[in-house]
Amino acid sequence: MLCSAKLTLLRSSLPPLGHSISALRQPKIYCSQSQATETETNDDAPKAMALSFDFLGKKPYSPPSWASHLRPIPSHVFSLGHLPTPIHKWNLPNLPQNTEVWLKRDDLSGMQLSGNKVRKLEFLMAEAVAQGADCIITIGGIQSNHCRATAVAAKYLNLDCYLILRTSKALVDQDPGLTGNLLVERFVGAHIQLISKEEYARIGSVALTNVLKEKLLKEGRRPYVIPVGGSNSLGTWGYIEAMREIEQQLQIRSNGVKFDDIVVACGSGGTIAGLSLGSWLGELKAKAWLMDFKQVLTHGILLAS
Ligand SMILES: Cc1ncc(COP(=O)(O)O)c(C=O)c1O
Repeated sequence: MLCSAKLTLLRSSLPPLGHSISALRQPKIYCSQSQATETETNDDAPKAMALSFDFLGKKPYSPPSWASHLRPIPSHVFSLGHLPTPIHKWNLPNLPQNTEVWLKRDDLSGMQLSGNKVRKLEFLMAEAVAQGADCIITIGGIQSNHCRATAVAAKYLNLDCYLILRTSKALVDQDPGLTGNLLVERFVGAHIQLISKEEYARIGSVALTNVLKEKLLKEGRRPYVIPVGGSNSLGTWGYIEAMREIEQQLQIRSNGVKFDDIVVACGSGGTIAGLSLGSWLGELKAKAWLMDFKQVLTHGILLAS
């Protein structure tokens, strides 16, 4: 699997920082105390089959009631992910007493668009299409999961995709090859431009995407720019929606399960921002924690406030 992103759910009566957390670059959620029961079966096969026709469909968006005061509210959303993703208990050995860890399997949100990226792209791509874009520009590291997901989403929607990928100075003039995410990006026909880490740091991602945007505009194209990681206020709605999804999944279980803490990996910050907002404004009220690449836990609410 090229990209995986999981949310972990922990049920615990202990303070969350007392737990040792394995170094995963994946969203996690932690939760508390009440006893789990078996999920009630809802054998609604015709409804499920009808929903499967929604894939790649664009529909008007209405936010959860608890987020309806946020501005701006996206007007539309594409169905790009295979949602809802499952939640299941993670049977880790040696957990402290009264502690349960649960995973929200966002790595199962769709193979080519997998992980957390697709939830942001559902909103970003809807805006791109609403604005009449004929191509998408985005930027990231040479093996950026976000860039791969964007390239695939663009292909699904019949848009061209332009990727600016950061690499080492020594490799900037070479063919980027076909390894990892590059294989998928090139397979779906994305246009790839390489930039050295030094130039990237000197010019900055916003200026770099703007230069490419100006060039494409002069060529008569209609580009739509997605920032690093798809993390802007619009992309954040993807994880506000994920919180609604978790709330609905908990309601179906209807056994009083409640998560205390949410832990996610953090790169560009959109995932933790959406989860923190959704958790704070919604019913869950779980604390959101981020784990950055140095594995430092920081209170996620700060990011969204
Ligand atoms: C697998 C995976 N999980 C989590 C993240 C972090 O997401 P975000 O960029 O929204 O902070 C990333 C992106 O860096 C990722 O690739």
